[in-house]
Amino acid sequence: MRAAARIRELPPYLFAELDRKVAAKRAEGADVISLGVGDPDLPTPSHVVEALRRAAGDPATHRYPSYFGLPAFRDAIAVWYQQRFGVELHADHEVLPLIGSKEGLAHLSFAIIDAAGEALVPDPGYPVYAASTVLAGGRPVPMPLTAESGFLPNLQDLRPSLDARALWLNYPSNPTAAVADLEFFASAVAFAREHDLLLCHDAAYAEITFDGYVAPSVLQVPGAREVAIEFGSLSKTYNMTGWRVGYAVGNREAIAALSALKTNLDSGIFDAVQHAAVAALSGPQDHAEAMRAVYQKRRDVVVSAFRDLGVSLEPPLGSIYVWVPTPGGRSSAEYAGELLNEAAVVVAPGTGYGDRGEGYIRISLTVSDDRLEEAMERIGRRMR
Ligand SMILES: Cc1ncc(COP(=O)(O)O)c(C=O)c1O
Repeated sequence: MRAAARIRELPPYLFAELDRKVAAKRAEGADVISLGVGDPDLPTPSHVVEALRRAAGDPATHRYPSYFGLPAFRDAIAVWYQQRFGVELHADHEVLPLIGSKEGLAHLSFAIIDAAGEALVPDPGYPVYAASTVLAGGRPVPMPLTAESGFLPNLQDLRPSLDARALWLNYPSNPTAAVADLEFFASAVAFAREHDLLLCHDAAYAEITFDGYVAPSVLQVPGAREVAIEFGSLSKTYNMTGWRVGYAVGNREAIAALSALKTNLDSGIFDAVQHAAVAALSGPQDHAEAMRAVYQKRRDVVVSAFRDLGVSLEPPLGSIYVWVPTPGGRSSAEYAGELLNEAAVVVAPGTGYGDRGEGYIRISLTVSDDRLEEAMERIGRRMR
């Protein structure tokens, strides 16, 4: 058997590699603390679990789900957008449930990128935007994100080619933890309109923000739905990474294209999971405040530990990550390797997110307070 060239040429998925390294270190008997993957350690709110339990007991949920999601789920997404952002969405044409947002992000490339089509992707950025562009036969064009510009792309410096179809953004950002305000989104909407691009905003971390900061939706920009699609996820907001449920909202042509593609590839989301997602979006939201407080405290532990090591670091306003410049000019891989070998702490090397991630590591805040403190102590003790 010979895998297709598109598979052979794929770079290994960063987290699969990290998993292998952790397993090898653990096999040596080390007490490894993994701050690599961003997978919330906190449980799904109990009323959501209960809604799943109830729905799973109903045989009506045991059949093939609708390709377009349960109307009740689409409605719940639209209502949530109205309440959270003041954005009115048409639940049938501007909302599409997804099997986790990663599924939709990746499939969108197949719906909008033709052979030789280009997509502007953040560098550093969540790897799925570039990888799916390549798999769809297109070419990712990295947009450099640097600390000097707050990890926002300098849109005025970009010259998209006539083959460019998509502009990917993600705020609060993985991996940089940077945030973007509505004014930046307005300039991105104008840029997308000027260059005839679909603005694809990944808002997976919109509900995880700190110090009172509230993240905007790109769809709050007047006229944005003419050029923009936004992705949301229940994974991080409701601690539901294992449940695989998210959504896309916004531009109807993009939603229709993604939806047409998906009818040929998948058969929707287990209805019981969708009922649970309705419970999450429509039920009490107080767990979110508690969750933000937990991550904010952990963020402060990490920031202060690295400041003690002489690393200059501003506390990020969102996401579940801290993006840390490597001390002493070490490379990302070198520093991540040292942390693993000398402190048994796993972090993600910045280069896993693009060439401009060189000189950084990403720390994930998704381990218990005790383990995070232990990890920071080990780093402080061994890495001076
Ligand atoms: C920026 C970003 N977008 C999307 C996802 C995927 O989330 P989901 O669980 O909804 O597929 C992740 C997961 O880590 C992410 O970091």
